[in-house]
Amino acid sequence: MILSGGSGTRLWPLSRAGYPKQFLPLASDRSLFQEALTRVSTGAFAPPLVICSDEHRFLAAEQLRLADMRPADILLEPVGRNTAPAAAVAALHLLEQGDDALMLVMPSDHVVRDTAAFHAAVDLGRVAALAGHMVTFGITPDHPETGYGYLQVGPTLDGLVGVRALARFVEKPDRETAAAYVADGSYAWNSGLFLFPARLYLDELTRLAPETVAACREAVARSARDLTFRRLDAAAFAAAPAQSIDYAVMEHTRCGAVVPVDMGWSDLGAWSSLWDLGAKDAAGNVTHGEVVLNRTRNSYVRADSGLVAVTGVDDLVVVATDDAVLVAGRDAAQDVKALVERFKTE
Ligand code: GDD
Ligand code: MG
Repeated sequence: MILSGGSGTRLWPLSRAGYPKQFLPLASDRSLFQEALTRVSTGAFAPPLVICSDEHRFLAAEQLRLADMRPADILLEPVGRNTAPAAAVAALHLLEQGDDALMLVMPSDHVVRDTAAFHAAVDLGRVAALAGHMVTFGITPDHPETGYGYLQVGPTLDGLVGVRALARFVEKPDRETAAAYVADGSYAWNSGLFLFPARLYLDELTRLAPETVAACREAVARSARDLTFRRLDAAAFAAAPAQSIDYAVMEHTRCGAVVPVDMGWSDLGAWSSLWDLGAKDAAGNVTHGEVVLNRTRNSYVRADSGLVAVTGVDDLVVVATDDAVLVAGRDAAQDVKALVERFKTE
């Protein structure tokens, strides 16, 4: 199942409510959503189940069509309730069809450079999931990122080569804690991918957040078919508390497992990630579009509209679109979310 309902606020002003980052071509000439679809178009995957906001239904359908992918279905959320309810309705949808399938929960805001390594990791995870584990995929951390979850990697699970116990899951720790985890050496970043039997996820969620499951059950039961879309019942779904899988389930589950994987993974969460990933000039700058730089170092400068000229500053993010301009310190890239929330409400 492809989670594609995020709003991508930290990539404002390029990513907008009506056209969020997963539908933008940020890392290649195809969108992140299309890249995610392609990742599961080979190998032992059933057609993808897409779950996104009602508002983006035609964007998703069009991008599926252009990627030549026929989805199993497209579930539409009338409101965003974060990832725990999204995965719950997907699990209910599968079980309704009498299909206790393994569910690979896949975000659509990632770059994965090594598809073969991704497939190999999912194959290892598949065995653990069939044995009753909630499987996570761990990335070796190289800095104390506070925007990720941390997995404490335990011993190898009996009879499951390449799969480790999940000793502890901590979602988005503060900087000090994250630094201690990186120094400790036994922690991995949570890649945001999960693999588990649909039934196991619902059982865990029922134990930990029964009101979420009740609301999602109702939303699926009262859903309506609209062309190729399945629209969840708005009132029922809105009653589900907004919570991520990480906080709702993964921090508490007792049957977690970790598959450590090196697959060229990055999360395109904020502008600083685009600088990290981009091809740098001799002064460490990454540019896009019509940009002129002078005495500027280690900056990300992007002109999606017009010309952008920058001089005498370092470590900046500058993004100019038709109707809005962002100037931010590169180390303040995470703050863009809070900034955007401010003028949305003002
Ligand atoms: N359908 C749907 N509905 N999808 C959603 C919703 C929703 O309400 N909210 C978010 N998503 C999608 C996003 O589009 C993204 O593809 C994925 O779910 C993850 O959501 P994010 O909001 O991007 O989560 P995050 O990046 O802060 O944290 C997660 O990913 C990190 C790695 O990138 C967590 O799993 C962290 O633990 C993890 O380290
Ligand atoms: Mg993310």
